[in-house]
Amino acid sequence: MAASALLNIMIRAAHKAGRSLTRDFGEVENLQVSRKGPADFVSNADRKAEEIVHDELLKARPTYSFLMEESGEIKGTDGQHRWIIDPLDGTTNFLHSIPLFACAIALERNGEVIASVIYNPIMDETFTAEKGRGAWLNERKRLRVGGRRKLSECVGATGINSRNTAGTTREIRQLAHILPSLAGIRRTGSASTDLAWLAAGRFDLYWEAELAPWDIAPGLVLVREAGGFVSDFSGKADNIQDGEVVAGNEAIHHAILKRLKAVRDRTH
Ligand code: IPD
Ligand code: CA
Ligand code: CA
Repeated sequence: MAASALLNIMIRAAHKAGRSLTRDFGEVENLQVSRKGPADFVSNADRKAEEIVHDELLKARPTYSFLMEESGEIKGTDGQHRWIIDPLDGTTNFLHSIPLFACAIALERNGEVIASVIYNPIMDETFTAEKGRGAWLNERKRLRVGGRRKLSECVGATGINSRNTAGTTREIRQLAHILPSLAGIRRTGSASTDLAWLAAGRFDLYWEAELAPWDIAPGLVLVREAGGFVSDFSGKADNIQDGEVVAGNEAIHHAILKRLKAVRDRTH
């Protein structure tokens, strides 16, 4: 299905930022051997990518608002529309020359995410979705979430927090409870990629907490348009504020919610 004018604007912005990230990623590999490492260089690459996305979107829709990871909130005169941007999702991977990261953009209308693009420039994979128009890979392949119903056949993804002990302890408890039921678990280091790969049927389930709105929003519409279910840990849909995500097909989403609840009940 041909992308709408709005989605084309988003794709163009993500691709332009992706080209800049790809150039910088090549340089990171050289800086890896220096004692200081490429940290400053990477934060520059991140900011540069955000500026590219911001400038492209602003040029096309001068009145829309922005919520960006690096620059925060910028209010536009249009009260209805807001871009939500993570210019580089998977920073730790990027910093360590691991070629798994994405430039992710979502568009909100009246508080609801209605379109998104998640672009992995290294794999040259562009995941897109618009409300009511399906989810697509490289604008050619229609995406559907996996149909598995037995957890023992499912491969899941999650994130392990390394920033605070309480979060890490909780996540390890969840993992200890859920992992034995699964065929396997992966940790990509890029939340938007986790959701995009779930929409593509590569992952059957995904859960993570302590995320930011720009980690969740782009994947939300993508998973839904691929026929999947997304909510926070209490089952509430459309929550990009509280940092929690559980996703899967209807049966698997329900099964993981139940397990997360069991872990919560046990520790209270
Ligand atoms: C991070 C990634 C990671 C998730 C972290 C996020 P960043 O985003 O999405 O998978 O576990 O919580 O902060 O920092 O690479 O944009
Ligand atoms: Ca992120
Ligand atoms: Ca980021």
